[in-house]
Amino acid sequence: MATTSVATFMIGTAASLGRESSVPQSKPSALRFSSQYSLKNFSGLKAAASVSCESESSFSGKETSAALCASFAPKAHKGNQNFQNSLQPQASFKVAVLGAAGGIGQPLALLIKMSPLVSALNLYDIANVKGVAADLSHCNTPSQVQDFTGASELGNSLKGVNVVVIPAGVPRKPGMTRDDLFNINAGIVRNLVTAVADNCPDAFIHIISNPVNSTVPIAAEILKQKGVYDPKKLFGVTTLDVVRANTFVAQKKNLKLIDVDVPVVGGHAGITILPLLSKTKPSVNFTDEEIQELTVRIQNAGTEVVEAKAGAGSATLSMAYAAARFVESSLRALDGDGDVYECSYVQSDLTELPFFASRVKLGRNGVEALIPSDLQGLTEYEQKALEALKPELKASIEKGIAFAQKQTVTA
Ligand SMILES: NC(=O)c1ccc[n+]([C@@H]2O[C@H](COP(=O)([O-])OP(=O)(O)OC[C@H]3O[C@@H](n4cnc5c(N)ncnc54)[C@H](O)[C@@H]3O)[C@@H](O)[C@H]2O)c1
Repeated sequence: MATTSVATFMIGTAASLGRESSVPQSKPSALRFSSQYSLKNFSGLKAAASVSCESESSFSGKETSAALCASFAPKAHKGNQNFQNSLQPQASFKVAVLGAAGGIGQPLALLIKMSPLVSALNLYDIANVKGVAADLSHCNTPSQVQDFTGASELGNSLKGVNVVVIPAGVPRKPGMTRDDLFNINAGIVRNLVTAVADNCPDAFIHIISNPVNSTVPIAAEILKQKGVYDPKKLFGVTTLDVVRANTFVAQKKNLKLIDVDVPVVGGHAGITILPLLSKTKPSVNFTDEEIQELTVRIQNAGTEVVEAKAGAGSATLSMAYAAARFVESSLRALDGDGDVYECSYVQSDLTELPFFASRVKLGRNGVEALIPSDLQGLTEYEQKALEALKPELKASIEKGIAFAQKQTVTA
């Protein structure tokens, strides 16, 4: 099943490149290409829209055969200059991955390299990232890949960047909580966000480094200290929680995977992760036992992977997939798509907590709206879980803010 999906996704991208020549010339080309063609075929990374489910997707049989036909099309067009031009999509966005040599960074860079919306992909790490960049640069997708190794090259890796993704840091080992990572990763995020503030203060910033519940408030404080904080553009990446919730619910209820959409709110650690199963689309009934079992599995899914890897790290491949989906959503929003919704941990006034993960509408300027409707009409179970997560999330937020403020005092 997984193999089929990956193959379809790749072929779908090729198909989208081959189809642009038939697009009418009246619309601006970047928008035309991305929203009507490539993105449909990129739907393996596309979130379901907030109110409707995707029934047609690149995973469907019909789309697959169209994609397969199109992937052979270049033979028929050999020597046709117009067709060659059509293979160059109007990619225009620059993305930087900080921590690109790591377990998440490498597969994430590969998935971003496949995006037709990306023109430049900058890979930064304190470890040597030259090999990763050389390897990726051989993929015949539009973006130019550049490598930047070591602190002296950090600034250059960020110049003119539209989206910065930060998976730099240490992953969890068995027995560690996300909070155990705090002391190392807090400092890494502080330094990297300082460089973002200095070099690309207008960029969307995607924080993956754990504990996200604290590293996002740290990033906010650093940006405030630098006078460039835009709460609409700072995101904690919680997409993996949604991806897991969708997968586990689809498995449990025998639903078509691509149709399932479960909003996940709160934070990104243990009980602060709250899947709102009553808001699942398509509408589905769960027994109390199923709700308890699914909620706990979604909350502990990270630990499932940490234990299975037995000391070799935490989730990397599924995380890269989820992060790539969030990057793709951000790029679609930047590109003018008016129908982009994702769950993310952002500055929020939906609850009394200053940061809270919820579904948000993304636009050219970042968060266009927080979506409150998921939090209305909760079941008793969800309402209790929401109240129960607040003290832990509040403490993690305060820990992050205190860390960032202490740095200013000592500096
Ligand atoms: N948000 C999520 O859902 C989620 C899921 C899984 C893992 N994570 C987190 O993502 C982070 C990375 O995990 P991983 O498995 O890729 O770890 P990894 O150790 O495989 O890779 C981390 C990379 O970061 C680099 N790095 C360290 N310090 C750096 C710095 N100052 N500047 C630039 N690069 C630096 C390392 O050299 C390494 O290449 C961890 O904090 C992990 O907890 C988050």
